[in-house]
Amino acid sequence: MTQTYLVRPGGALTGTLRVPGDKSISHRAIMLGAIAEGVTEVSGFLEGEDALATMNAFRAMGVTIEGPHQGRVTVHGVGKHGLKAPAQPIDCGNSGTSMRLLAGLLAGQGFSLSLTGDDSLRRRPMARVARPLQAMGAAVDTEPGGLPPVRLGPVKRLHGIHYDLPVASAQVKSAVLLAGLYADGETSVTEPEPTRDHTERMLAAFGYPVVREGNTARVTGQGVLRATPIEVPADISSAAFFLVGASIAPGSDLTLNAVGVNPTRTGILDILKLMGADITLHNPRLAGGEPVADIRVRHAPLHGIVVPEALVPLAIDEFPALFVAAANAAGQTVVTGAAELRVKESDRIQVMADGLQALGVDATPTPDGMIINGGRPYTGGTIDSRGDHRIAMSFAMAALRAGGPITILDCANVATSFPGFAELAVTAGLSLSAS
Ligand code: S3P
Repeated sequence: MTQTYLVRPGGALTGTLRVPGDKSISHRAIMLGAIAEGVTEVSGFLEGEDALATMNAFRAMGVTIEGPHQGRVTVHGVGKHGLKAPAQPIDCGNSGTSMRLLAGLLAGQGFSLSLTGDDSLRRRPMARVARPLQAMGAAVDTEPGGLPPVRLGPVKRLHGIHYDLPVASAQVKSAVLLAGLYADGETSVTEPEPTRDHTERMLAAFGYPVVREGNTARVTGQGVLRATPIEVPADISSAAFFLVGASIAPGSDLTLNAVGVNPTRTGILDILKLMGADITLHNPRLAGGEPVADIRVRHAPLHGIVVPEALVPLAIDEFPALFVAAANAAGQTVVTGAAELRVKESDRIQVMADGLQALGVDATPTPDGMIINGGRPYTGGTIDSRGDHRIAMSFAMAALRAGGPITILDCANVATSFPGFAELAVTAGLSLSAS
C-alpha cells in the first residue's frame, strides 16, 4: 500500500487539538504490563503500527491483551517468567524501539526466538544492543554487519554488567536495563548525555526499584513488577510538526493539549524558542509519573541558530521538522552532533537535504548534521519521503510557506506513529489531500 500527500501552499494552523499518544511510552506500557503481576489498564495508548507491533509480539508470547479501544488497553500480566516461546519470528514492522527493547527484555527468557522487521528496519544497526547483551551472557546474534533478524537462544541466567553507552541511545539503555531485570546482581548503564528516561520512570511506577545518579541508572535483577494504571500523554514528537507549522505560518495560533513534556524530550521546545518561536506551556501536571502540559504556539519570525549539541539527544526525532523550521528561519542554522539521524527509519540527513534542495532551499548535508541558509522563498515540488513517517509529516508542514503545491510520496508509514495525521492537519488548517 502506498500513499501520496498533496499539500497546497499557504494557510495557518489554528484551534485546539490533541495529537495521539506517546510512542515510546505506549511501547513500554505493553512491555512492562506484560511482565508485571496483575492487570495493567492503559489509557491514551498510541494505536499506531509501531506500538501495535509490540502488542502483537506479546500476544504471540501468550499474553492476553484487550483493545485498543479509543486508546484503552488492558494487559493481563503474566509475571516476569510467564512468557511463552512464540511460534513464529516476531515481526517488529518498522519499529526500532520494538526490536531493540524486546531484544533486551527477552534475552533472559530461556527460550529461542527471532526478531525481524520491514525493509527499513532490516537495514538498521542492532550490534549496539547485541554487544552489551552478549556481555551479560545472552545468546544473541545478528546477520553479518549487525543487521536484523536478531536471534536469541535460551540461556540459564544473565549476569549484571556496567555498560558505558558508546552512543546516546535510550533504546540501547533500555535494552540493557530490561535485560538487567533478569540478571544476577546489579546492571548499570551510563549514558554520555541524557536520553529519554521513560523506561526508568515506568519501572519505578511498576514498583521496580531504579537507582539514578547523574547519567547512570541501575537495576538489580530478580525483583517483581506490580501492575499499575498508565496514562499515556500526547506525543511531543507528533506535536512537533504542528509546533513547527504554526511557528512558520503567519496567523497561526494553536493549542496542543496534554502533551508529554518530560525534560528528556523537550529539546524541540528549547531549540524552537532559541530560534525565536512563541511557545508557552499551560496547566502543567503529572500523569503516570510523566510531566504533561498544554502547549500554545503562535506564529513568530524565526531566525537561524547553531543548535547546541547537548540538545540533540533531547530532540533526536524532531530534526526533520526542525530542518523545515530552519528553512523558514532568517539566516544560517547549523546542526552538528546528530550522526544518529543517518540510522533512523531513513537516513534523515540525506533524505531531508534532498527534499529541501528539491524545493530550492539552500541545505547542505554534513556527516553529522546540516547547514541551512533559510528565510528565503522556496517552491513547491515533489518529495520522496522514502517511507519515513517523520519526513512525510515535516514536508507537509513545509507547504504552509511554499510557493506551490508539495507532493509527498510514500506516506503510508505515517500510520506507524501518527494515525489520523492527515485528518487532524486538515482540521488545524493544512490543505492536505491523501490518495
Ligand atoms: C526511542 C529512542 C530513540 C528514538 C526512537 C524512540 C525510545 O532512539 O529515536 O524514536 O523509545 O527509546 P535511539 O535510542 O536509538 O536514539
